[in-house]
Amino acid sequence: MMQSRCPTAIALLLLWLSITNNNASGAFVGINIGTSVSNLPPASGIVSILQAKNITHVRLFNADHQMLTALAHTGIEVMVSIPNDQLLRVGQSRSDAADWVNKNVAAFVPSTNITSIAVGNEVLTALPNAALVLIPALQFLQAALLAANLNSQVKISTPTSMDLIPKPFPPSTAQFNSTWNQIMSQYLQFLKNTGSVFMLNAQPYYGYTKGRGIFPLEYALFRSVNPNTQNVDPNTDHVYTNMFDAMVDAAYYSMQALNVSGIPVVVTQTGWPWLGGSNEPDANVDNALAYNTNLIRHILNNSGTPNQPGAQVSTYIYELFNEDLHTGPLSEKNWGIVFPNGTTTYSLTFERLALSNNAGSTGPVGMFCVANSSAPVSALKQGLDWACGPGSANCSAIQPGQPCYQSDNIVAVASYAYNNYYHKTQASGGTCNFNNTAMLTTTDPSYGSCIFEGSSGATGSTGATALGPVGPDSFATTKCHASTFLYIITLALLFLV
Ligand SMILES: *[C@@H]1O[C@H](CO)[C@@H](O)[C@H](O)[C@H]1NC(C)=O
Ligand SMILES: *[C@@H]1O[C@H](CO)[C@@H](O)[C@H](O)[C@H]1NC(C)=O
Ligand SMILES: *[C@@H]1O[C@H](CO)[C@@H](O)[C@H](O)[C@H]1NC(C)=O
Ligand SMILES: *[C@@H]1O[C@H](CO)[C@@H](O)[C@H](O)[C@H]1NC(C)=O
Ligand SMILES: *[C@@H]1O[C@H](CO)[C@@H](O)[C@H](O)[C@H]1NC(C)=O
Ligand SMILES: *[C@@H]1O[C@H](CO)[C@@H](O)[C@H](O)[C@H]1NC(C)=O
Ligand SMILES: *[C@@H]1O[C@H](CO)[C@@H](O)[C@H](O)[C@H]1NC(C)=O
Ligand SMILES: *[C@@H]1O[C@H](CO)[C@@H](O)[C@H](O)[C@H]1NC(C)=O
Ligand SMILES: *[C@@H]1O[C@H](CO)[C@@H](O)[C@H](O)[C@H]1NC(C)=O
Repeated sequence: MMQSRCPTAIALLLLWLSITNNNASGAFVGINIGTSVSNLPPASGIVSILQAKNITHVRLFNADHQMLTALAHTGIEVMVSIPNDQLLRVGQSRSDAADWVNKNVAAFVPSTNITSIAVGNEVLTALPNAALVLIPALQFLQAALLAANLNSQVKISTPTSMDLIPKPFPPSTAQFNSTWNQIMSQYLQFLKNTGSVFMLNAQPYYGYTKGRGIFPLEYALFRSVNPNTQNVDPNTDHVYTNMFDAMVDAAYYSMQALNVSGIPVVVTQTGWPWLGGSNEPDANVDNALAYNTNLIRHILNNSGTPNQPGAQVSTYIYELFNEDLHTGPLSEKNWGIVFPNGTTTYSLTFERLALSNNAGSTGPVGMFCVANSSAPVSALKQGLDWACGPGSANCSAIQPGQPCYQSDNIVAVASYAYNNYYHKTQASGGTCNFNNTAMLTTTDPSYGSCIFEGSSGATGSTGATALGPVGPDSFATTKCHASTFLYIITLALLFLV
C-alpha cells in the first residue's frame, strides 16, 4: 500500500536532489548513508543508486574502503566519519590519528573527493565520557591532514545534537548546555582557525513529537501559512515559519552566546520517518514526503534563516536506506528514501522525473488541494462555482474539449479548480477549505495531459494574482467577471442533475 503512493512527489524529491548539481554556488542537499541495514547492497550498487538519482553529496558513518573505492571518479563529494567507538583511540594518540588519516583519507584522494571528516557523532550528549578526547582528536587529525598537505581540501568537525541546546526556543536566548562551555569554546575556536563548519543534527520530527502538542504539525513540516502556526521570537520579532530554521538559528545564537560568530552551520542530519508504530501516528508517508520535499525546496532557495538571511544552510537528508537493524521504536528503522533494491520506499515509479522542472511554480510543490469525495455533490458544486468565480481560479482546463474536462465527475473537476485556487493564493494566505469540502494531499491527482498545479509534470504556472490573505470561507457570488461568469454557466449546465 505504501509503495503505490505519491510517485510524483518522490520523483520530485529526487529531481530536487539532482538540481543540487547545478547549484554549485549555493547550498546543497546531500544524503546520509547509514549501514545498519540487514541486506545492504554492495558498494557498487549503492553508488549506482546515488548516480541514478543524481545525488552529489554523501555522508558516510565510517570510512568503508569499498565505498570509498566505489565513489572514486564519480564527482560525488564525501564526508567520512570516525565512529564514536574509534574516537578514544584517535583522541589519545597522535600517531593513531595520523594513521587513520593516511589509511582512510590520504589513500583515496584525489580519486575520491573526500571533503570533510565528521569526528564522532553527537559525542557530548551520546558519549559524554569521551568529551575529554574530543578536542585532542580534532587537533591530532588536523595535524595529520596538514602533514599530508590535505588541510585545505578536507575540513574537520563533529556533528552536534540539538540536545546540546536545552532550550532552543526562542532561538535568540538559546545556549549550549553550560556544562560543556569550555569544550564548546575550544571547539568553536578550532572551527574558526581551520575554516570549518558547525555540524548540526536538526530533527524537527523529534522537536515536534517531544513537544507533545506545543508546536503545530504545519510548523514542523514547513507548511505554516497563517500566523497561528508560526512562532515569533519575542526578543527579535523574527517570525519563524518552520522549526528547522528555528533550530538552525538556535545554533547560531548559541555560538554567539560564547562570543563566536562567522562559523557556518551545515545540517548533517534531518529527515522524517515514513512508518512508525501505532503510537507514532506522525511517522507516515504523507508527513515524510511533505517534510523532505519542502525541506529541499527551502534549502535550495538559499533564503537563509530569519537570523542569518542569505546564509547557505547545506543539508544532508537522513537517510538513504531504512536501517532495520536499529533498535528502538519502529519509526527509528524507517527514515530511508529507497529500499536496498533502489526502488523508492514511498513510491514505485519515477516516470514524471524527466518532465519539466517546476521551480517557477507558485504554491507548495508536491502538495495538492482536492475535493473530498465524501462531500455532498451540492456542496462541491458550490465550491467549484466559488473557485472559478470570486476565487479567480484558472478554470480553462476544465472546460469542454480541454484536458481536465470530465462531464460526469464533479470530484475531479472541483479538485482541479480547488487546487488551482490553492496554488495561486497559498503564499498570500489562501487555504484549502471550501466550506470543509476540500483536503490537502501529497498524492498527485494529475492524469494523462491533465496536469495539476504543484505536480512535477506541471507545465509551469502563470503569474499568480495575490488575492490577499482571505480563504474561501464564504461563497459570495456577486462580483464575477464576464469570462468567469461564462465558466460558471458552463459548469452549472454540466453538473445539472
Ligand atoms: C541526472 O542528470 C542528468 C544530466 O543532468 C539528466 O539527464 C538525468 O535525467 C538526471 N536523472 C535524474 C534521475 O534526475
Ligand atoms: C571536490 O569537491 C570540491 C568542492 O566542491 C571541488 O571544488 C573539487 O573540484 C572536487 N574535486 C574533484 C576531483 O572532483
Ligand atoms: C547538561 O549536560 C549534563 C551532562 O551531560 C547533564 O547532566 C545535564 O542534565 C544537562 N543539562 C540540561 C539542562 O540538559
Ligand atoms: C562575551 O563577551 C562579553 C562582552 O565582551 C563578556 O561580558 C562575556 O563574558 C563573554 N562571554 C563569554 C562566554 O566569553
Ligand atoms: C525563497 O527566497 C525568497 C527570498 O530570498 C523568499 O522571499 C521566498 O519566500 C523563499 N521561498 C521559499 C519557498 O522559501
Ligand atoms: C524492492 O524491495 C521492496 C522492499 O523489499 C519490494 O517491496 C519491492 O517489490 C522491490 N522491488 C523490486 C523491483 O524488486
Ligand atoms: C471528507 O468528508 C467526510 C464527510 O463530510 C468527512 O467525514 C471526512 O472527515 C472528510 N475527510 C477529510 C480528509 O477531510
Ligand atoms: C489558464 O490555464 C491555461 C491552461 O490550462 C493556460 O493556457 C492559460 O494561459 C491560463 N490563463 C491564465 C490567465 O493564467
Ligand atoms: C457551508 O456548508 C453548510 C452545510 O454543511 C451550509 O449550511 C452553509 O450554507 C455553507 N456555507 C456556504 C458559505 O456555502
